[in-house]
Amino acid sequence: MRASSELRHLIDAVAPYWAGEAEVIRAYFDGPKRTRQTDLDWLARQCRKEFWDSFDGHKEGLFIGPLKLLVDVGSAEQIDRGFDRHEALDLAEGAFQEFAHYVAFADAYDAIRNDDDPPIDPYRLRDLESWAENEALSDLRARHRREHGEIGKRAGFLTEGGYCSLFSEGMRLKGRGGSDDEIARACAVVYDDEFEHMLKGIAGLGRAELSVAAWRLLETLAIEQMRARFYMRNAQFAHPVSAARIEELRAGRSKPVAFDYRRAGFDP
Ligand SMILES: [Fe+2]
Repeated sequence: MRASSELRHLIDAVAPYWAGEAEVIRAYFDGPKRTRQTDLDWLARQCRKEFWDSFDGHKEGLFIGPLKLLVDVGSAEQIDRGFDRHEALDLAEGAFQEFAHYVAFADAYDAIRNDDDPPIDPYRLRDLESWAENEALSDLRARHRREHGEIGKRAGFLTEGGYCSLFSEGMRLKGRGGSDDEIARACAVVYDDEFEHMLKGIAGLGRAELSVAAWRLLETLAIEQMRARFYMRNAQFAHPVSAARIEELRAGRSKPVAFDYRRAGFDP
């Protein structure tokens, strides 16, 4: 299947921002400020994201949120009586995947920590590891969903994981030994899922599925979310990139990532 020109245009517009997020992560992994403690700090924050990032604007998080909803609609006998079974399956799958991501990063954290470092505890993370830039991203995504419905939701999928940059950069650490191998292993668990999630942002979008205005809106929302992601990631990784460079990344000044059309199910 060939990607429509509208879809290619959208991907071209977002690709420099995806590259920018990869630059932030790479600057951390290859940078001079990285220590065991900074690894523990970012892993704890990643665990918090996987467990507690907002699910559809609700604060229960990406694991408990969909499970709660499933129990609610299931026990109210609503499945296939107004609540689509595929939607229910998506919720179950989402809960499983996000919890698997949490477990992968928590295992990496526990493998790296010393006996006197606190073990991972998701309820402690909820309170201690919240960071303002992540809250701001989460609020922005919730607002886009609220104000723009389906298009807002698609923008959220398209920017989720920032074209898997953390996970692909983390996987590059494989073979370096020690903490690097633990991180690489966790990132490999998550990578495929996040690529699939990103594809949900563009699934079923042929030329005719959206109006010209809706294509433009999707691009605007996705870029706005990516810009917020630079602040989120730079703070998560103890600011490996200067404030000046972050502003350049926010202006889209990066060499775009080469989008993998074949992997996404399109003709290359
Ligand atoms: Fe995840």
